[in-house]
Amino acid sequence: MANSTQRKAPAAQVDWLQPPPASTTAAGGLPKGQLLKWIGSKHRFAKAISQRFPSDIQRYWEPFVGSASVLAALAPQRATASDVLAPLVEFWQTVQSDPGLVERWYTERWAEVLGDPDAAHRVPQEVKVQGYLQVRSRYNAQPNPADLLFLLRASYGGVVRFNSSGGMNTPCGIHRPIPPLEFAHRLRQWRPRVLGTTFENSDFETTIDRATRGDLVYCDPPYSDSESTLYGAQGFQLARLMAAIERAKERRVRVALSIDGSKRSGAHQIALEIRPGLFETVAAVDVGRSMLRRFQLAGQTLESEVVADRLLLTWPEN
Ligand SMILES: C[S@@+](CC[C@H](N)C(=O)[O-])C[C@H]1O[C@@H](n2cnc3c(N)ncnc32)[C@H](O)[C@@H]1O
Repeated sequence: MANSTQRKAPAAQVDWLQPPPASTTAAGGLPKGQLLKWIGSKHRFAKAISQRFPSDIQRYWEPFVGSASVLAALAPQRATASDVLAPLVEFWQTVQSDPGLVERWYTERWAEVLGDPDAAHRVPQEVKVQGYLQVRSRYNAQPNPADLLFLLRASYGGVVRFNSSGGMNTPCGIHRPIPPLEFAHRLRQWRPRVLGTTFENSDFETTIDRATRGDLVYCDPPYSDSESTLYGAQGFQLARLMAAIERAKERRVRVALSIDGSKRSGAHQIALEIRPGLFETVAAVDVGRSMLRRFQLAGQTLESEVVADRLLLTWPEN
């Protein structure tokens, strides 16, 4: 686990032994704010995506869980979610088992980098950047969920980008990360929605291959052309995913696959790699701007970047 911090951290703000208010439980709607800031998050589309899922799901599987936005929108009772990024999976497991510890992780790092959340004066940007780089070096020396959480909230655009030797190299963002109290409130809202899920650190293929008839698998993969340095996804291959989806369909498992309409070259490549007939429905789920484009085009106009997100389903919709 990460080193302790030099500054004194503020006390915990939420009593985790008390049940959350009814309005924040699984039946109470999708939480407004994201718990993790995550490039490529489906947060804005999550409700629309989960509404396309059938109502008779035996078990829900999400093999590229990331910030768990679709999972949280669905709030399933029986589910398995996995990701190849081990500290991320450890984060979600600790949200379930020890939310007070997750709250402390964030509160301590916030104090380490930004000082007292109630102070009248904010630390200058260069001091913040210095603190951020210290947390990033510590994470790269020993990847861990506590530092990853803070880095994601403070990094430029929630980008999870790695260099060729596996080190996270996203620069510090110019924004002020959400204060510890706001984070604790979000954690309280999100936690009930993921309690029915088992989180695992595994490659997508292992997860998809375990789904059985009556189950639903939702895939939101990185796309190999444009996202090869994101999330440490260098090993991802679309053909391997398509083969796993074929096998799942043969077992009568329903599979939904998200394709971000902004990834134009990716969409072209995907079209070539998908066997005609594998997917029986193409649904446009929403419109919005792509964070990925925003990162690549930093400083340039976004007006032409309004895009649709598509969802491919292996079953026919009535
Ligand atoms: C586009 S993101 C998923 C975003 C998620 N739907 C959300 O709303 O936050 C893709 C995820 O796939 C994960 N990933 C990349 N390669 C993988 C692999 N081979 N097996 C499993 N997960 C992988 C990444 O770590 C990342 O979390």
